[in-house]
Amino acid sequence: MSKKILITPGDGIGQEVTSSAREVLDFLIGEHELDFDITQMDVGGTSYDKNGSPLPKEVLDEARRSDAILFGAVGGPQWDDLGWDSRPEQALLGLRKELELFANLRPAFLFNELAGASPIKDEIIKDLDILIVRELTGGIYFGEPRAIVSDESPPYAFNTMIYNEDEIKRIAKVAFESARKRGGKLCSVEKANVLEVSKFWRSVVSDMAKDYPDVELSHQLADNTAMQLVMNPNQFDVIVSSNLFGDILSDLGPAVTGTIAIAPGGNINPEKNYPSMFEPVHGSAPDIHGQLISNPIGEIWSAGMMLDHLGESEAASAIETAIETVLRDSDVKTPDMGGEASTVELGDAIARAVAG
Ligand code: IPM
Ligand code: MG
Repeated sequence: MSKKILITPGDGIGQEVTSSAREVLDFLIGEHELDFDITQMDVGGTSYDKNGSPLPKEVLDEARRSDAILFGAVGGPQWDDLGWDSRPEQALLGLRKELELFANLRPAFLFNELAGASPIKDEIIKDLDILIVRELTGGIYFGEPRAIVSDESPPYAFNTMIYNEDEIKRIAKVAFESARKRGGKLCSVEKANVLEVSKFWRSVVSDMAKDYPDVELSHQLADNTAMQLVMNPNQFDVIVSSNLFGDILSDLGPAVTGTIAIAPGGNINPEKNYPSMFEPVHGSAPDIHGQLISNPIGEIWSAGMMLDHLGESEAASAIETAIETVLRDSDVKTPDMGGEASTVELGDAIARAVAG
């Protein structure tokens, strides 16, 4: 039976990089005789401009009918003054929430060929291979109540950071199980020295450790983790954290490799049979949009994670090998990696390498 894939390019460089990922997917579909049915739809500010909504009902319905979603990026300064419900970001947050994609898997991995692009010394960064597991449908991103109260003096604003035990347990389970399959180490990150919600998070995760005697659990405060990721990143195997701290750390982790643009991500719900969504960690980068210098690797690699998730592991490893081959054997690199290639040139090179 054919598998349905929904591609949502979104805004800014999301459009450029999904187009490269699509090219690579089309090659793979031919090579591996994959039975995929690909649909493409607008989301974010682009969709707001055309349809008056960043996530129209038809897109959400199509997402629900799909086996997986390949997401580009959303946002841009031209939509900054829109009301809350119309903002481009609502497309991403809405899909995550509606599809209950509570687990965000974001690897921070260094291709040693790119070590020169890292601001960190080679001996510190070499062989970096971390998995950041970020909680994605709870915490301060979605906590109620929340408001900007402008009719009082002084005006004020607030959000609510809230996690219940079930939400912490299910994300910690994903993290413990990932650690078990990888290097056997899990670091849980919060601010238990300041926040009740973090103290509670720490106690729930600690209680679970007895079910995973083969995993070495540690706890760190988020500010310390930010420092450790720069000073001694190779101490980490799997990191688990809340929505907000995970957002910050999953920019920092890949950034120490030199470019956040290659970092892929999966948004999944391992408990229910919902479609999963794959998207690079980087955003819509309005500052470089249109110059065709965006790096498509994060999006292409996300497509690889998607194929793996859909059971097409051979096609998935073909993508990873192709990325590695192009980085190792050619000078086709976009400016963020120290080269001069365009998005299209790099995408083409990876597509050709996939085709063998
Ligand atoms: C990310 C992004 C999003 C987030 C924004 C665009 C809503 O930064 O996917 O990391 O904060 O989750
Ligand atoms: Mg982010």
